[in-house]
Amino acid sequence: MRLLRPLLVAVALLAGAGAARAEPRQMVAAAHPLAVEAGLEVLARGGTAVDAAVAVQMMLGVVEPQASGIGGGGFLLYFDGATRAITVYDGREAAPAGATPTMFLGADGKPLPFRQAVASGKSVGVPGTVALLERAHKEHGTLAWNSLFATSIDAARHGFPVSSRLAAWLDQVKAFAGEPAARATFFDADGAPKKQGDTVVNAALADTMQRVADKGATVLREGPLAEEMVRRVQAHARPGTLSLADLAGYRVIKREALCGPYRIWTICGMGPPSSGGLAILQALALLEPFELSRDQPNDLRSVHLIAEASRLVFADRAHYVADPAFVPVPVEKLLAPAYLAERRTLISPDRSMGVQGAVPPGYVEHGTSHMTIVDRQGNAVSFTTTIESPFGSLMMVGGFILNNELTDFSAVAERDGRPVANRVEPGKRPRSSMSPTFVLNKDRELVLAVGSAGGQRIIGDTLQALIGMLDWNLSAQAALDLPRVLNMNGPTELEEKGDLPALAERLRALGHQVQVRRHEGGLTAIRREGDGWGGGADPRRDGVAKGD
Ligand code: GLY
Repeated sequence: MRLLRPLLVAVALLAGAGAARAEPRQMVAAAHPLAVEAGLEVLARGGTAVDAAVAVQMMLGVVEPQASGIGGGGFLLYFDGATRAITVYDGREAAPAGATPTMFLGADGKPLPFRQAVASGKSVGVPGTVALLERAHKEHGTLAWNSLFATSIDAARHGFPVSSRLAAWLDQVKAFAGEPAARATFFDADGAPKKQGDTVVNAALADTMQRVADKGATVLREGPLAEEMVRRVQAHARPGTLSLADLAGYRVIKREALCGPYRIWTICGMGPPSSGGLAILQALALLEPFELSRDQPNDLRSVHLIAEASRLVFADRAHYVADPAFVPVPVEKLLAPAYLAERRTLISPDRSMGVQGAVPPGYVEHGTSHMTIVDRQGNAVSFTTTIESPFGSLMMVGGFILNNELTDFSAVAERDGRPVANRVEPGKRPRSSMSPTFVLNKDRELVLAVGSAGGQRIIGDTLQALIGMLDWNLSAQAALDLPRVLNMNGPTELEEKGDLPALAERLRALGHQVQVRRHEGGLTAIRREGDGWGGGADPRRDGVAKGD
């Protein structure tokens, strides 16, 4: 033992030194530390990135219920480390068969006030999140489905501490207290919203997750939970038409990744019904000749150019993008070099072009979450998941919140006498901005994965995270920390953070209408670092990135 001890010490020191140097080989980045831990626990048992995504989503539904969960939908991109193929799962909510293009109009023919449209049965789409995860798990999971729920069920049944963001949203969305199940779960006996650090127990959600663990997505297609969803939606004071047939008929759609070049990389994202992948590819293509890599992060030139490119892609998005099963979206034409070259002529380095064409009013919403996961086999998941507004439609069934995703449709069916591409139609999926993204190198190796929450601002957030990492060679965390500039074909928004507001006057001199505002963000990202990975989570939220 006397001889062995120095040897053991030396081995321990070497191992320690190695551990300090080595980059993580597997990693989870998500909007809440408990969700990250749930994912890491699955990876530690040898699970794949998809196995981990199931656990992360279940925990997010418990601890970040305002943003995503069993009652919502999402888009998941999966990168297979062995084949380097990307599979895209569309679990976007669908409009019920009884939905109509005018269902968000009031008796006066005008759109319902947005809050009334959100808090209604009309806004609830057929949820797709569990069906999506089940399908992805069947194809790319290795651990047993029912082994992926234990930590989330435990947290829901025995309690979890309210995060600062959940507390803030409970305080802000007071109408949620009008839902009896929400009041019993998230509010004190005197009706006051739970505060940060208070404990929430959601036994109904624990029971629902146990059913999903035992039987899969079928428990949302038929049986008591399905019947209760239908009853709640149809019994609402502003009723919707969701039916058992709608729930039974829901299908996850596998789509092609939408990929395009940027400098030495290939960027792959989500095509229609999301506008995210297309808008990001267009913006990057518009910006490429300006060589943003010559600039310092967020200097005047780059901020101006990013705002101008964003303005152009938002004009196209408003006009063209909707569910491709209902509206032909001219994706190839919108990405054609000749078209983009013509659009680029509108960008002047020293003058803003101003608003481009009519843009429907944008909704500000924050009920979305993004997770990014890599496993030891080199598989990866980039998954944006949502119930749309904070606390969705403000209705709960089985401990989960019903989405209000159908308010992502245009409330008006016609504009200037022409049908709006993103009008409501039966069975249609509303246009999204969700932008789960992968970047590949010339050998099709994964360079990074990224995506964000944040409604329409997802596009600008994801675009700038990409520019931060690819052009300015920032770490994932540094790219996510950068103050944001956004333009959705209106004012140029500067985040009230760091040096960015100091550019306001100079941008106004270039013709921008500038708003300095607080920004919600919601990015997570994982980027190749050496032989492993580095991660980042948006400092504007509660999330973390962690690996081993
Ligand atoms: N509800 C957020 C989005 O789909 O863009």
